[in-house]
Amino acid sequence: MNTPVEGFSKRSKAEKINWIAEHYTKDPKASKAILEQYWNTNPKMQKLHDEFIENTLTNYYLPFAIAPNFLINEKLYAIPMAIEESSVVAAASKAAKFWLTRGGFKTEILGTEKVGQVHFMYRGNNRALQSFFEELKPKLHKSVSSITKNMEKRGGGIRKIELRNLSDQMEGYYQLHCTFETLDAMGANFINSCLEQFAKTLKEQAQQYDAFSEDEKNLEVVMSILSNYVPNCLARAEVSCPVSQLDADPTLAKEFANKFIRAITIANLEPHRAVTHNKGIMNGVDAVILATGNDFRAVEAGVHAYAAKDGRYSSLTHATVEGDTFKFWIEIPLALGTVGGLTTLHPLVKLALEILQNPSAKALMEIVAVAGLAQNFAAVRSLVTTGIQKGHMKMHLLNMLNQMGATEVEKQQLVEHFKHHVVTNASVKEALEKIQSQ
Ligand code: MEV
Repeated sequence: MNTPVEGFSKRSKAEKINWIAEHYTKDPKASKAILEQYWNTNPKMQKLHDEFIENTLTNYYLPFAIAPNFLINEKLYAIPMAIEESSVVAAASKAAKFWLTRGGFKTEILGTEKVGQVHFMYRGNNRALQSFFEELKPKLHKSVSSITKNMEKRGGGIRKIELRNLSDQMEGYYQLHCTFETLDAMGANFINSCLEQFAKTLKEQAQQYDAFSEDEKNLEVVMSILSNYVPNCLARAEVSCPVSQLDADPTLAKEFANKFIRAITIANLEPHRAVTHNKGIMNGVDAVILATGNDFRAVEAGVHAYAAKDGRYSSLTHATVEGDTFKFWIEIPLALGTVGGLTTLHPLVKLALEILQNPSAKALMEIVAVAGLAQNFAAVRSLVTTGIQKGHMKMHLLNMLNQMGATEVEKQQLVEHFKHHVVTNASVKEALEKIQSQ
């Protein structure tokens, strides 16, 4: 039986690898070989990756791909995507090409406001707290001037500090609810540094506020942290075209528009479908966020909260036919950065941003929103026409053949064969066995 380990983080990388391989794997030698196989051959590059996190043993690869032909606000983009799911990049590329000849994607930023909160407990007179807060506010701003100086020079900084009374939801619970503009930075460190200083200043000033009773002076800070719910840091992306352009056959075009809108309506009204619908959107969103070194967990959390903002989880995309015009759009909260963090450290992330023409955070928000919309268009289009498995299994074919140990020649032959046959696990196995027995 394994026992807990002491001081693991202080061990060398080789010691950590030995320990994990020997304690938790059946064949330590083979396990070590797998871990080492993923090391970068350039020791400096490997060290850079080792130091991103604690207890690094090796690197974890994801394919890094490009979805070309995205026309966004009249400008052509090739969008980098990091993702393991076989059909995502193919679907994005297909949607990009479809809209390339129909006016492309139009985008707009609806807001860039980030949020952070100091949560605290105060059991006293509410009016006294309000008066204290009015005196406190300029002191809060002043206390973070060294942190905000550079951001302010560039036009960002703290936008608002509000006192919020939530004592009806939990006795004595209040917040400093703060909004920030962090420009091209995602801003997590900036916001959290400001908040932790606000918390200190709040506490110190309360101690010195003569109008407070002794109890009131001892207000208690619970925590200070940014919020990943950013409903006012919002991008919108849209495509539109005459209904007749949705298919070469005018009857099919109309039928497709109707089926498409029905699918979006279902995602709007039924949470089981809405979650899967939005998952498809996040296939595109997360892939670009990962490729550009942003925090996909933060975005995921914020996006799903936004999808439930009206009290029921629903679709992030919407579609209409008005007159003869089909319109399909997304509104999505995206707190992204194109400076700082991994964006300046990770060579592949830097390259991804260069491929995107070194976008501002706002431009990246627009590109990511487009990736989400395109992905959703491709998925819903397949769902209401051919079904999803046809394209998905075709893309998955190589994974299956690799798993079955097919040679390069066999793979080529079978890719050709399955251009005209249905891909299933059984049909691939059978076709491979047939070739191998010849
Ligand atoms: C699969 O990764 C994503 C889809 O399920 C999305 C959807 O159903 O809309 C195909």
